[in-house]
Amino acid sequence: MDFNIPMALILGIESSCDETAAAVVEDGVRIRSSVVSSQVSTHAIYGGVVPELASRMHLEAIDPVVDQALARAGVSLDDIDGIAATQGPGLIGALLVGFSYAKALAWARNLPLAGVNHLEAHICSLQLLDNPPKFPFISLVVSGGHTNIYHVKGPGAFTLMGQTRDDAAGEAFDKVAKMMGLSYPGGPAIETLAKKGDPEKIKFPRSMLKKDNFDFSFSGLKSAVARYLHENPDMSPDVNEGRAAHVAAGFQMAVIDVLCTKLIAAAKDRNCAGIGIAGGVSANQTFVETLAERAAQHKIKVFSPPLSLCGDNAAMIAARGWEMIRNNQVCGLEDDVYSRVKTLN
Ligand code: KG4
Ligand code: ZN
Repeated sequence: MDFNIPMALILGIESSCDETAAAVVEDGVRIRSSVVSSQVSTHAIYGGVVPELASRMHLEAIDPVVDQALARAGVSLDDIDGIAATQGPGLIGALLVGFSYAKALAWARNLPLAGVNHLEAHICSLQLLDNPPKFPFISLVVSGGHTNIYHVKGPGAFTLMGQTRDDAAGEAFDKVAKMMGLSYPGGPAIETLAKKGDPEKIKFPRSMLKKDNFDFSFSGLKSAVARYLHENPDMSPDVNEGRAAHVAAGFQMAVIDVLCTKLIAAAKDRNCAGIGIAGGVSANQTFVETLAERAAQHKIKVFSPPLSLCGDNAAMIAARGWEMIRNNQVCGLEDDVYSRVKTLN
């Protein structure tokens, strides 16, 4: 297939965690449709994702979600030039649903299939922006499972510079929210409450800030918040929303401070004029604004996806898949999903 001809349409499929998603993307950059069926309200009852439930719900949703993505793009399977599906990392049972579906479709239709790395795809959500970052740039994938800094030298050329040694940033948001009796997922709940608080009132620790590397650690911060809440039981939002807001704001700023400092240091280290953030936590507007402000002082530009592309979606999977298929990085029926990262260096 000649992928240099105009208008190659890729069908993207995502099912690594608690979102079943499908999208049609043109030439790796133009979203023709993007459908996301979220299971979040089901898992919220349990305070986190229940893998078995996630797999079952993906099974129910996958077919209608793909149909909807094709219909909204105004195309049929006959118009699709390639298929991209998340191969890993993620929950095995959840990944299997989307990846097996994609394998069957690719085989039946004789189409090339890209097995996409979910983290690389989050970085590729930035190429779907009207003004995408120019290579080389620094990227942060910050979600419930990862806090990774990459040096992105070109399409598909990602070098891992640093990562969390324990909890991911989003995981810290979720755990602190749980301690405070806030709803799941914790990120949006903390951000909303933090708006009413003063981030300077309670100073929580900034882990790894003085270390000369690009790694993170958030479990100490989480413990510090737990200790503070234990010693100040009147900090629950039910008891005293005003004071709880200071805890939320102080915690949030501790996370943001470390993320911003390390990202700017990474950009300066690699002489990059742009920083692109992606993943669920990049939906945090206080983070985006603080980073943009601080980076501007170093003449560094910040790129962040719209809300619809921050969390898990299939447009980013199709964007990454398009690059892979063009480079003949395709997989076959014998290929399997993987739960942990295997390829990013
Ligand atoms: O990328 P994502 O949708 O799923 C994966 O983990 O791959 O990210 C979900 C994470 C959750 O931990 C959630 O609490 C966090 O992103 N998150 C936020 C915000 N919105 C979602 N964290 C901070 N502020 C937010 N506004
Ligand atoms: Zn994700």
